[in-house]
Amino acid sequence: MQEIYLDNHATTRVDSRVIEAMIPWMNDEFANAGSHTHGSGRRAAAMVEQCTEQILGLLGAPNHELVFTSGATESINLAIFGTFSHPKQPRRSLLVGLADHRAVLDCAKRLKTLEFGDQKLGNQSFSVGYLKVEDATSQQAGAIDLEALQEALNENVAMVSVILGNNEIGTLQNIEPLAKACHNVGALLHIDATQAIGKIDFRVEETQADFVSFSAHKFYGPKGIGGLLVPKERLRLRPQIIGGGQSAIRDVKYPWNCGDVPSFGDCRRGAAIRSSAIANVAKAALGSILRVDRGTRAKRAPDRGWLAPDRTIAR
Ligand SMILES: Cc1ncc(COP(=O)(O)O)c(C=O)c1O
Repeated sequence: MQEIYLDNHATTRVDSRVIEAMIPWMNDEFANAGSHTHGSGRRAAAMVEQCTEQILGLLGAPNHELVFTSGATESINLAIFGTFSHPKQPRRSLLVGLADHRAVLDCAKRLKTLEFGDQKLGNQSFSVGYLKVEDATSQQAGAIDLEALQEALNENVAMVSVILGNNEIGTLQNIEPLAKACHNVGALLHIDATQAIGKIDFRVEETQADFVSFSAHKFYGPKGIGGLLVPKERLRLRPQIIGGGQSAIRDVKYPWNCGDVPSFGDCRRGAAIRSSAIANVAKAALGSILRVDRGTRAKRAPDRGWLAPDRTIAR
């Protein structure tokens, strides 16, 4: 009997075009992107930069930066704990959808047991609220009830996390009204887009989401690489993995660097741009799968780096 694989929501085969795009970055151009003192290191760094710009372009995220992670679970951890552990984050409450993935629900559960210091208020604990979702009789089963969100929101809510494409039943959440409701009270919106990116037309700027988590292995990329989109502005995100400053590749200045607190620059380096050539390869792969899936060529933006065509990923 021939075995067929029907579990693409769990993970996908790596696309042969991605493997093809990765091989030169393992064989010939294997240098560390943090090694700016030689040509091959600079070429690796340029490739990482190019991939970053392509991904931001394809995801319609001109106002975001990309942190490369090991996958969506790490992205979600960074978004949640990076926000709540920031010493200048005065808000103490997280709201999550009842139908969110365990990667979010488990972070929420852990957050309730933690205390992080606050410069003014001292150590304080956190509260977590669970947002009601539409029941099974609804066409939008599993989607967040906007009224329930509006009722739960208040000025103590730092972040709301919702799932964009439900991993069990496939319901797609309409993000924009949720983002508006969150922003009305100054809360940030994180969306877990792990099951949606690569399958639906998705542009971050249209949703107005602040943080977006995703993982390459869900859409024909390799396992062990993912991303967190973070807003360039309104950001207070504390690194969760320390070190990696040697791998700085993007000369981006952020207004919200704050004294002894590691800057977002450190965070992006520490959390994501690890000093491993393997990571470079994986990043090249993530960029390439987005590129090849479109079947279109990236074009050079006049002001900075490479931008992909004005469309999102799909397959
Ligand atoms: C909705 C959703 N979020 C998060 C994850 C975790 O993704 P990863 O395996 O990349 O950490 C998954 C994986 O199944 C998922 O379906």
